[in-house]
Amino acid sequence: MTAIDAIYELGISHNKFSLPLPDGTFYPDYFFSSDKRPLEFLKSFDRIRDGDWSDCTFSDLGCSEGSTTFGISQMGSTVYGVEGRADGVERAKVLQQIIGFERTHFSVGNVDHEESYRQVDAIFNAGVLYHLEDPVTCLERCAENARLFIYLDTGHAPGSQQEREGSKFASNFGRVHTVKRHGLELEAVDFAEPSTTAEKKGGVRRGPRAGIGNTNSVWLSHASTVELMKVLGFPYHETVGEQPHIPRLRTCFWRTEPKAPSPLGTLLKPLPAEAPPEAAIAAARTRDLAYLKRTGAPVIVIGHEPLLAAVAEDLRKGGANIDAVIKAPGNLGDKLPLRGLDKMLDGRSGRVAVATRDVARASFNLMKLDRFGYVFTSFALARERELA
Ligand SMILES: C[S@@+](CC[C@H](N)C(=O)[O-])C[C@H]1O[C@@H](n2cnc3c(N)ncnc32)[C@H](O)[C@@H]1O
Repeated sequence: MTAIDAIYELGISHNKFSLPLPDGTFYPDYFFSSDKRPLEFLKSFDRIRDGDWSDCTFSDLGCSEGSTTFGISQMGSTVYGVEGRADGVERAKVLQQIIGFERTHFSVGNVDHEESYRQVDAIFNAGVLYHLEDPVTCLERCAENARLFIYLDTGHAPGSQQEREGSKFASNFGRVHTVKRHGLELEAVDFAEPSTTAEKKGGVRRGPRAGIGNTNSVWLSHASTVELMKVLGFPYHETVGEQPHIPRLRTCFWRTEPKAPSPLGTLLKPLPAEAPPEAAIAAARTRDLAYLKRTGAPVIVIGHEPLLAAVAEDLRKGGANIDAVIKAPGNLGDKLPLRGLDKMLDGRSGRVAVATRDVARASFNLMKLDRFGYVFTSFALARERELA
């Protein structure tokens, strides 16, 4: 067994961003580019950096499976990833064994708790603030713990009725209210998280990218966030990116006036190079097949014709141990929905190879069923291109 084989034992990824691995694949292997926000973070931090990169320290809050944490580790600094869901941290630790980065550390921690914070030079706060009921306390703790810089990527309360109605999350928004702290009246809106706080109910896992233990989170308006950060000691800010359909913004906050931006230069400890999608799919397929053949692990094949027959044939010819071939109703191009998968897979568990067009969605749904060890997507991705 190689270090990379450990990913087959880790359950199904819930990450939306991919990490390039040294064998030319990605993890998860159906997304073909890595997250660009870590470079934005490093470049923006560099504008206030006052020491060698090797002496710098960062925290990544709500770090999921660590791909962003590795991204911000690419200058050789010491980086701490904190994540509330233990399976994300387990996966991050296995990925670390594969790619190195011995100065990157992961721990399970809830960002609602004081002990999840530590003194660092800068904090990467992405995709997590808008899952909290008390975002103000999180920002206070960030300001207390970040010596120089905070990168905030989060959803904000819509600035107008039109923006609210046009949001992708229009149906999640609730009461508009103000949060009174630090002598400020901060504009906020309630946001509906999943309606039950349980991490698993009826055999289905709560979305592992959602908040933890809350049915409501609070989104601050961007103007109020800027106002608050000023009071908390971060008076300089720049918005470096936005997704107006949410609305979600990426904002950099500096404690003192930053220098003008300049190119970051060579990464001192770069991630593995990203292979082009075709090559990455071929590499993943080769590795997947070798693993299945070597271990004899049974695999269930499920999906739509004609991809189903093609994937099953490839697995059979490659020497994999096929447990069952399950034909889903509908046509190639249809989804493999969560309830449909649950029914078709009828209490089975183990490893699954999907033969469908939207492998990312199928993989996410199988992950939510929370009883499958791994989902193989490379066979469908390789064959689908031929059949398209
Ligand atoms: C939308 S994902 C964002 C992941 C990553 N930071 C990114 O930007 O791609 C939210 C992550 O925050 C984690 N999370 C949610 N609430 C948390 C909390 N209170 N404490 C720690 N982690 C939390 C989730 O488990 C999930 O991994």
